[in-house]
Amino acid sequence: MGAITWVLLWVFKRICTNACTTTSHDDSKCCRIPPGSSGFPLVGETLAFVRAYSGTNGVYDFVRKRHLKYGDCFRTNIFGQTHVFISRTNVAKSLLGSESIDFSKRYIKSIGELLGKQSMLCSSHEHHAFLRRHISNLFTFDSLASFIEHFDELTVQILKQWERKKHVVVFDDAMKLTFRAICKMIMSLNEEEELKRLQHDIFLITEAMLSFPLRFPGTRFYEGLQARKRVMNALREKIALRRKGFENKRDFLQFLLSADQSDKRNGELLNDEQILDNILTLIIAGQVTTASAITWMVKYLDKHAEVQDKLREMQMDCKYKNSDSTIAPGTLNEMQYASKVVKETLRMATIVSWFPRETLKDCQIGEYQIKKGWIINVDARGIHYDSTIYNDPTKFIPSRFDEDPKSYSFLAFGAGGRTCLGMNLAKVMMLVFLHRLVTTYRWKVTDKDWSVEKWAMFPRLRNGCPITVYPLQDT
Ligand code: HEM
Repeated sequence: MGAITWVLLWVFKRICTNACTTTSHDDSKCCRIPPGSSGFPLVGETLAFVRAYSGTNGVYDFVRKRHLKYGDCFRTNIFGQTHVFISRTNVAKSLLGSESIDFSKRYIKSIGELLGKQSMLCSSHEHHAFLRRHISNLFTFDSLASFIEHFDELTVQILKQWERKKHVVVFDDAMKLTFRAICKMIMSLNEEEELKRLQHDIFLITEAMLSFPLRFPGTRFYEGLQARKRVMNALREKIALRRKGFENKRDFLQFLLSADQSDKRNGELLNDEQILDNILTLIIAGQVTTASAITWMVKYLDKHAEVQDKLREMQMDCKYKNSDSTIAPGTLNEMQYASKVVKETLRMATIVSWFPRETLKDCQIGEYQIKKGWIINVDARGIHYDSTIYNDPTKFIPSRFDEDPKSYSFLAFGAGGRTCLGMNLAKVMMLVFLHRLVTTYRWKVTDKDWSVEKWAMFPRLRNGCPITVYPLQDT
């Protein structure tokens, strides 16, 4: 109901401000624009898109249906904007690979507002390079090594509680785990009440990212903006404490602040707003994505007992060989089959389904003319499920990664200059969790439903994947 009201308001606004945008691009036949439909005047196919978002097949259903109808490149019109979806590896290469200056990263306005103007996720070319250079300091080899140790400890702690509980919802605990690990790495947060408050606010912000931008109390967007204010205030207080010397930790925040005083080698330094917006961005970009991926992994392994058995055998070997009280970074390199399970999960789940880029001038993509201002979406999920690239793409077959995938055919973390900055962190979290899970428990998914959450930014199981666990020594 809220969705419909929003669409009507939006249509009204467009009629008032821009009454002459109804010309269909189909008029210009000579240009060979991509096949597809511009939908109804003004609203285009927005209602169908919103319907898919609010459905339990997930928003990708909108893309999948049109892909089946028109092929691997099609055009649509949503929220007053022409979008082209394309699932070809050569196009992925030319759009993402060199991060061509003819295309710019594009996110919807509400996401930009919630993450902040300085967030690297939404920033323009030049500004992005500056932010990325500074933020990538979080992912040095040393900080990754201490992250592994801490993440392992947290995982063991949480899995221990499962023995008592017996029935757990994987997504809930995966959210807790990824949130705490990332917050500890960035700013050494440990205090239980503070963590709970912050996790709740971050959840409200994430939930608001795809809501309609209505700023009335009670709307999701409004609640998200309020939560952002609280998070920013809490982070500002933290920075003030560090600057006064009341808190001194060896973490990323401290690194950014001390660079503030002494290290001028990197050129211009990040200011407070840039630090704040990007801490929020890192938590949001890292938490739900990794928690969803972990949840899908548990679900796929439940369905494929033969893969689970093979994996357990190998991880047990690894456990005895390394007599592991904690997992060392080198041990992760030995987990080759587990790495393939992680990759196959990421292929099948494709947590970020497509990557939007705005066209900055008229151009040609393949046989099609593309106009300035259109949004080109590299359809990663379409590529991951293309049977000319992956045999039996709907089957969960980790050994398909015995060979490296062809270039630009595995896009779980994107590609090129905007490749996921937390890629190694995410892989480490998935591997450590997998190792501890299969060497401690067997499990059964108790609700076999595969529906995905409505209105979710990333595809995730609606039921969160409830399981019953059985300690290995009892089975
Ligand atoms: C399984 C987990 C994850 C998946 C599937 C994932 C996927 C992606 C993808 C596909 C992109 C590129 C989007 C585009 O090109 O439009 C991206 C960007 C990004 N990710 Fe991740 N991500 C994951 C975990 C993480 C983690 C753990 C962090 C950090 C804590 C993180 C931080 C970022 C950042 C900062 C960017 C923006 C990079 C830039 O614009 O330069 N991600 N992620």
